[in-house]
Amino acid sequence: MLGIETSCDETGVALFHTRRGLLAHALHSQVAMHAEYGGVVPELASRDHVQRVLPLLRQVMDQAGVSASQVDGVAYTAGPGLLGALLVGASVGRSLAWAWGVPAVGVHHMEGHLLAPLLEEPAPEFPFVALLVSGGHTLLVDVQGVGRYRILGESLDDAAGEAFDKTAKLLGLGYPGGPALARLAQQGDPGRFRFPRPMTDRPGLDFSFSGLKTHALTTLRDTPADDTLAADVARAFEDAVVDTLMIKCRRALRETGAGRLVVAGGVGANRRLRAALAQMAEAEGGAVFYPRIEFCTDNGAMIALAGALRLAAGASAGPEIEARARWSI
Ligand code: KG4
Ligand code: ZN
Repeated sequence: MLGIETSCDETGVALFHTRRGLLAHALHSQVAMHAEYGGVVPELASRDHVQRVLPLLRQVMDQAGVSASQVDGVAYTAGPGLLGALLVGASVGRSLAWAWGVPAVGVHHMEGHLLAPLLEEPAPEFPFVALLVSGGHTLLVDVQGVGRYRILGESLDDAAGEAFDKTAKLLGLGYPGGPALARLAQQGDPGRFRFPRPMTDRPGLDFSFSGLKTHALTTLRDTPADDTLAADVARAFEDAVVDTLMIKCRRALRETGAGRLVVAGGVGANRRLRAALAQMAEAEGGAVFYPRIEFCTDNGAMIALAGALRLAAGASAGPEIEARARWSI
C-alpha cells in the first residue's frame, strides 16, 4: 500500500506491507520555508507539495525495491487540512491508482494519527483510548477497532499545539513554537507561577486552552521583566497544558476501562507530557503507546497503514478525487 500525505506542511510518502510492515518512507518538511512568515502559507504549501511528491515517491519505491506492478493500493490523505495542499496528494494518489489499476482510498488525517502507534512493536491491542494532540486538533477518542471511533472529548477553542504556538509567539519564540517553548521551559522555575488547569474541576472530557495563552499574556504584562520571566512563564504554561491533558486522559481511561492509552500528534513529542502520562498510566495499572517521534508528526507511513487497514476491512471508494478541508472523524 502506497501512502501519500499532503494535508499541511509536510510531504510524506511511504510503502506499507500488511505482513512485513513498513517497507520505506520519506518526508519533506516545509517548516523552514514557512518560518519567515510565522505560519503556514497555504499557497506556498500546495506549490511545494507539487514539486516534492513525485521525487519522494521515486525515492521510496527505489528504497523498498518495489515496482509499480507490486503496489496493491494507494492511500492518500483526503482531509481535514488545507484544501489546495490536500488536492495535490489526492490528485496524484487517485491518478496513480487509476494508472496502475488498483483501488485508492481517501484516509482521514486524524485516523492516520490515531493508528500510527500500530506501526510500532509492541502495537497496542484494541480497544484503546487515543489522545490526538496536534496543531489543529485536541481529541480524546475511544477506539474499538479500525473505523470504530467515538469522540470522548475535544477542545472547544484552541488545539493544544496551537496554544503552544500562540504562547510561544507571545514569548518571542520562532515558529513552530511548541518545541522552542518546551526547550525554554526547561530553564524555568516551576514554583514561580501557577496557571489554571482549564475544565478539570467539572466532569467531562472536553478541553479549553485559549485561556492559558491569555493567562501567559497577562502574567507577562503584569510582572516586571527579569532574566527568567520568559522561561518561568513557559514552564508554568507547559505544566498547565501537560497536567490538564494528563487529568483528562486518566479520566478517559477510568471511564472506558480501556487500560491502554495511545498518544499521537505533534504535541505527543513533548517530553514532559510523555513523562506525566507514563507516571499516570503506571499508577492506573495501564500502559501508554507512542509512535516513534518522526511518526508523531505528519507522515506518509500512518496514511499507508490506515489505508491498508481500511482496504483490508473492505473499504471501497468511488472514482472521485476526495479532498475535504473540514471533515469530522
Ligand atoms: O501533528 P503535527 O505535526 O501537525 C498538525 O498539526 O497536524 O503537530 C504540530 C504541532 C505544533 O503546534 C507544534 O508546536 C507542536 O505540535 N509540537 C510541540 C512539540 N513538538 C511539536 N508542542 C509541544 N512540545 C513539543 N515538543
Ligand atoms: Zn497531523
